[in-house]
Amino acid sequence: MRTKLIAGNWKMNGRKPMVRELIAGILSRLDVNQRSEVMVLPPFPYIPLVNSLLDATPVLLGAQDLSRHDSGAYTGEVAGGMLADVGCSHVLVGHSERRSLHGEDNALVAAKFNAAQAAGLQPVLCVGETLDERSAGRTDEVVSGQIAAVLEAAGVAAFGRAIVAYEPVWAIGTGQTASPEQAQSVHAMIRAQIAKEDATIAGRLRILYGGSVKPDNAADLFAREDIDGGLIGGASLTAEAFMGIYQAAG
Ligand code: 13P
Repeated sequence: MRTKLIAGNWKMNGRKPMVRELIAGILSRLDVNQRSEVMVLPPFPYIPLVNSLLDATPVLLGAQDLSRHDSGAYTGEVAGGMLADVGCSHVLVGHSERRSLHGEDNALVAAKFNAAQAAGLQPVLCVGETLDERSAGRTDEVVSGQIAAVLEAAGVAAFGRAIVAYEPVWAIGTGQTASPEQAQSVHAMIRAQIAKEDATIAGRLRILYGGSVKPDNAADLFAREDIDGGLIGGASLTAEAFMGIYQAAG
């Protein structure tokens, strides 16, 4: 049985007072009877503060991006080794906003995936199709292509130390959630793609859904066989909404 994971991608939001309030609100709502895990992914500058606020708690800490390089003359970039050094255990790679706003292609995403693992971080590999791609009936082709690029570069064993997040671009920040059926269908396809190479790794792989997850739609999504939790954007910015989703995960 895969433990569900509720991960909050804060994106570029918040200042210190909000960070403190949000973490206090999350910690006060943790429930020993819940099996699900919780992760927060703050902007880079707040990682040390969040790490100190999370000290001795079970809440996991991740970053939203990393450089493909380990160190050197890459002004403005942040290396996976640095993120591990300041307390991160996880990092997003290939979020759709990185792909669309920063031109990250499958090859760069695969390089970042490898860089994360080389630094001892678990990558959370984000994949998903645009509305045009879905309308053209290309969802499976696009998503399986995004997974294949990383499978080729990293090998299937690497998926034993990674998480996948399916985030249809048209559902991110739009209030338009994929239906549980739509999400389950893509999650099952991803798991089958990994299973072709290694059924054990596929069976253990956590595949999160992201895209307008809210407390009132989370339970239906999380009830599906291959949906192992959520990657939450907007609703991760208040403890009440975020932990409402956590409650829904059971
Ligand atoms: P929303 O939950 O705001 O749609 O964002 C999803 C997302 O992009 C999480 O990474």
